[in-house]
Amino acid sequence: MRGVSGYFDAATATPLHPAARQALAAALEDGWADPDRLYREGRRARLLLDSAREAVAAEIGGRPDEVSFTPSGTVANHLAVLGALAARRRVGRHLVVSAVEHSTVLAAARRHEDDGGETTTVRVNPRGRVDPAAYAGVLRADTALASLQSGNHEVATLQPVGEVWAACRERGIPLHVDAAQTVGRLPSYEDWDLLTASARKWGGPAGVGVLAVRTGVRWRSPLPEDEHEAGRMPGPVSLPLVVAAAAALRARAETAPALARRQAALVERLRAELPRRIADVEVLGPDDPQDRLPHVVAFSCLYVAGEALATELDKAGFSVSSGSSCSSSALTPSHVLAAMGALTHGNVRVSLADDATEADVEQFLRALDPIVRELRQRSGASDL
Ligand SMILES: Cc1ncc(COP(=O)(O)O)c(C=O)c1O
Repeated sequence: MRGVSGYFDAATATPLHPAARQALAAALEDGWADPDRLYREGRRARLLLDSAREAVAAEIGGRPDEVSFTPSGTVANHLAVLGALAARRRVGRHLVVSAVEHSTVLAAARRHEDDGGETTTVRVNPRGRVDPAAYAGVLRADTALASLQSGNHEVATLQPVGEVWAACRERGIPLHVDAAQTVGRLPSYEDWDLLTASARKWGGPAGVGVLAVRTGVRWRSPLPEDEHEAGRMPGPVSLPLVVAAAAALRARAETAPALARRQAALVERLRAELPRRIADVEVLGPDDPQDRLPHVVAFSCLYVAGEALATELDKAGFSVSSGSSCSSSALTPSHVLAAMGALTHGNVRVSLADDATEADVEQFLRALDPIVRELRQRSGASDL
């Protein structure tokens, strides 16, 4: 029988999907040659790469030649933003992002500003969502690129991508959608001009990101170009990892709707039980399940430091992220929570792995209460 599994950080990295494991082993045997070579081994590798590209393209609603593989979602975001800005320099140097974008998008925006460009940051409501009219309102004649994530990695909020894309389209502005948290989980939509994703969020291995650029959308590499990945990512890809990533995505396609329903029910239970069992807790993100990612829930505990909470939960067997989940330092306050006007301390994000069960969630809830009490007692906050 399976014991309680306490891995609750799947929004950062999922355990490898069994289909990916199998494909990886096969591709290490079969896919080691250079796919650009014309000899037998190279042709075999080319077939594997083409097939992986087709699988990803089908999943995101794009064409295979629009899809390039990168070493991570991070690099994909950097290239999407900086490449689109570089190609549309003559239109202008104005970039629009939401306040809750992943830190990698914001890092690219900062680089753009350092280079003399301008960024407008669109605010979000207390549930972490942008208002599409407000987003449309800041688009200008010199806007070179707009960027909006599909779902938020910290608080699960789904963004109105379709409406924002329509507003961008009316004005001839390309929209970059960071879909790292939705690809392989939620039905894909075709409302994007540039799309980025990360295989380690969908059961693929770390080391594979996706950058898709629609045909006709102008994009120029900010890096020296070569013949790989349609000139979008220099250097050869790790073919075995790419093959494994595609296998995980294919395998998930059939199970994703049922998985999302199951995870949404567990998240709903956490959202309902947390305030009942823990004093002074704020559950973050949208109340309506339709407006949320299925696998993520975040909450803040008043009078507790998030890092201490994560450390104590780890000792109790639960792996969660705390603070700015997109930063390497847990001590950095989350820009997402700050933008929502939420408590930035005592913050915990639970993100469910595919095999998380009701028993896991129940064990977590049971473990949390004494830990929070103990930490509050230690800091003297329980007397407040
Ligand atoms: C929304 C979002 N975009 C981009 C990334 C970066 O992807 P990677 O971890 O592959 O670099 C993440 C990772 O957490 C993410 O959640």
